[in-house]
Amino acid sequence: MEIAFWAVDEYFYARMKFHRILAIETSCDDTSVAIVRDDGFVEALLSQNQDARHRPFKGIVPEIASRDHTETLLPLVDQVLQNLKYSWKDIDGIAVTNRPGLMGSLLVGVVTAKSLALALKKPFLGIHHLEGHLMASFLRDSQFTPPAGWDFPFLGLVVSGGHTALYHAKALGDYELLGSTQDDAAGEAFDKFATLLGLGFPGGLQVDQLSEGGNVQAFQFPRAMMNDDELNFSFSGLKTSAQRTVRGIEDWENHRSDLCASFQAAVVDVLIEKTKRALKKTKLDRFAITGGVSANRALRKAAESLAKETGTLLCVPPVRYCTDNAAMIGVAGIQRFARGETSLWNLAALPSSALHIIPEQQIASSLNLQPSSP
Ligand code: KG4
Ligand code: ZN
Repeated sequence: MEIAFWAVDEYFYARMKFHRILAIETSCDDTSVAIVRDDGFVEALLSQNQDARHRPFKGIVPEIASRDHTETLLPLVDQVLQNLKYSWKDIDGIAVTNRPGLMGSLLVGVVTAKSLALALKKPFLGIHHLEGHLMASFLRDSQFTPPAGWDFPFLGLVVSGGHTALYHAKALGDYELLGSTQDDAAGEAFDKFATLLGLGFPGGLQVDQLSEGGNVQAFQFPRAMMNDDELNFSFSGLKTSAQRTVRGIEDWENHRSDLCASFQAAVVDVLIEKTKRALKKTKLDRFAITGGVSANRALRKAAESLAKETGTLLCVPPVRYCTDNAAMIGVAGIQRFARGETSLWNLAALPSSALHIIPEQQIASSLNLQPSSP
């Protein structure tokens, strides 16, 4: 009986048109809800940042993150609908980040999306967080459009507090991992360095700001894995070197600006050099940089220079689409809905999951299902 119910629903969804969907992102410490159209246009995006809640602990406390999502998520859903004067009739489906991330945080989003889908009889879909970051390059709104000609295939550098990876994005759902960090993520390195200098958590933005006017050559920080042909990254040696350097300067407080500029230059050099190598290796003529660290001004500047130097097309979405947000989940979701995909009620929240391997049970292609009875 249950199977028949699903089969008919799946069959129905495969034929339905998806004009706009609601998207939910709660994989880490940002509660975010968006409404995204099938052309990637973001009609609404509301996010609630938890930075102030985690700052006293100098890191993200999973228990606090999930508790806050529980309090914030449904009011945000209500608010985006109200802002646009939409009712649920205007929403064709619900997309939610179901992997990877903090287990408790993911669960709040996944269970909320399933409950809404069940109560409102809407299809829903679990989306990989990193696919969202890559697909952010297709988002548009009244102030931003991707560069003319932006499309697959492209090279995607995802740099955030939890991830640093280079992907050959060939098509929706077809991503080849070219390289990733072997230890700390770039954002994590920025945050640990900021903590070392007493700049608070998360401190990437503070390092960026203090770097202004600093001398990038004042301190020599290591650039790891630069002689290898491979495209992996490593930032733990840089962290150790920075600790040693700071401890070795008695009045390091007076050198914050130079320390930040030199540290930032080391991170940016590595990210750009690996991106350059990946462009050469893949012969791609388009690249995107997303994730919270792509807000970094030195990185953006260096990426623009690289695009000029290599004659490639660059897409760096605005910061609101680079940090964790639901709009990026929405654009990935609506494109997957459009090709007939929906998730099943047993969709799991998975704390770790590689983007290039999509476990079978997570995505049920409704096109393969037949109604069991007319
Ligand atoms: O993507 P995101 O919002 O969350 C995840 O980690 O998934 O990225 C947050 C990270 C933090 O590590 C933060 O310090 C870093 O992005 N970040 C920056 C800048 N703004 C945010 N790092 C360097 N420069 C910035 N301007
Ligand atoms: Zn992220």
